[in-house]
Amino acid sequence: MTQMITEDARDDLLSRGYSRRSLGRIVTVFGLGAAAAATFGRPAWASGGIPDPAPNAKVRIGANECWTGPLAPGQAAAAAIIASGNRYAPHDERGDFIKAVMQVEGVPYDHVAPWPGSSDPLSRSVVTFCSPTRGLVTANPTFELAGRTAEWLGAPVKAVPLKADYSHDVKAMLAADPNAGLYYICTPNNPTGTITPIADIEWLVANKPAGSMVLVDEAYTHFAGVPTASYMAAAGKDVVVMRTFSKIFGMAGMRMGYVMARPDIITRMMRYDGGMQSGALPLPSLACATASLTAADLIAARRKEMQDARGMTLEHLKKRGLTVHPTDANMFMIDWKTKAAKDMQIAFRSQSVEIGRSWPIWPTVSRVTVGSMDDMTAFCAALDKVWV
Ligand SMILES: Cc1ncc(COP(=O)(O)O)c(C=O)c1O
Repeated sequence: MTQMITEDARDDLLSRGYSRRSLGRIVTVFGLGAAAAATFGRPAWASGGIPDPAPNAKVRIGANECWTGPLAPGQAAAAAIIASGNRYAPHDERGDFIKAVMQVEGVPYDHVAPWPGSSDPLSRSVVTFCSPTRGLVTANPTFELAGRTAEWLGAPVKAVPLKADYSHDVKAMLAADPNAGLYYICTPNNPTGTITPIADIEWLVANKPAGSMVLVDEAYTHFAGVPTASYMAAAGKDVVVMRTFSKIFGMAGMRMGYVMARPDIITRMMRYDGGMQSGALPLPSLACATASLTAADLIAARRKEMQDARGMTLEHLKKRGLTVHPTDANMFMIDWKTKAAKDMQIAFRSQSVEIGRSWPIWPTVSRVTVGSMDDMTAFCAALDKVWV
């Protein structure tokens, strides 16, 4: 299997301390082997042979997806390009997408790489910047993919608790491993929906060890409408800023995302598959993403729709005396205190409402995604049945 990575990539990995044995594992990180699904658990987009209860539920607020499909201009652009699908690139659709990113983010053309979602660049960042001698520093709780990839590859992992306000504790993260290869910041954080101030990220970038990278995962940024770290990528810092269209843009099944970073960093990340993942993107996904990214008014309207549904729900939960952690994004954490989150998920399932899971650090806390106003009204009604 290891012949599937390029010779240059193999030499790079061996020189950084990976063993020949771990090369096979690295191949699985890039989705080229079945072991990845078995190892990383069941991602939202793969059933892994286990029946997924979500598609049968009337209300699906468990996987942080958007409650509705792509923005109207995106849908129109995707539909229009299908007729030209005989060409690999009828025009320069990849280039058009990058130009849309430049326009919105203010980063140069060569600082942008499209990718099919952000799971691949996330795992790939661990391969690129971590090794058996340079570990990963992540938060607890946070999105686990980076940590699981590092464990799978045998790179040391430090998971640092969030601060009392649920932001990343950047000083403790640096202290946890002052020589890490990668520091992973998810803002807004999944599962808490909380922001880490941009000044804290700047501090980490300024104080981290030489040769390491800060990965800023901004999957939920449009739901919060907060400043992005993209200017640090444009300024050539050791930063990779990662975006996905799976959230506010309603394109989880269409697989689109991008990273913003210095060109030499992008080249390093691409070397393992010769640029294949970034270079060969489906035309409807590219066209949809390009038309969606610049639709600022529609993005703001969707954010407002989420905020209204979230506000209504949090009000209801407050009235019911439940404890909810603060949030800035399309998810919130309910602490049931006396009941296991697992049991509450099953109770909601009996009402045809699929809520999210818990994280090991907080076994009585469930993550709930904010859906449409109708979804959240149904959630509140189900809550009143299962929480008496
Ligand atoms: C924080 C975060 N990053 C990355 C991803 C990966 O999403 P995708 O591969 O669909 O872009 C997710 C998915 O839920 C996420 O929550």
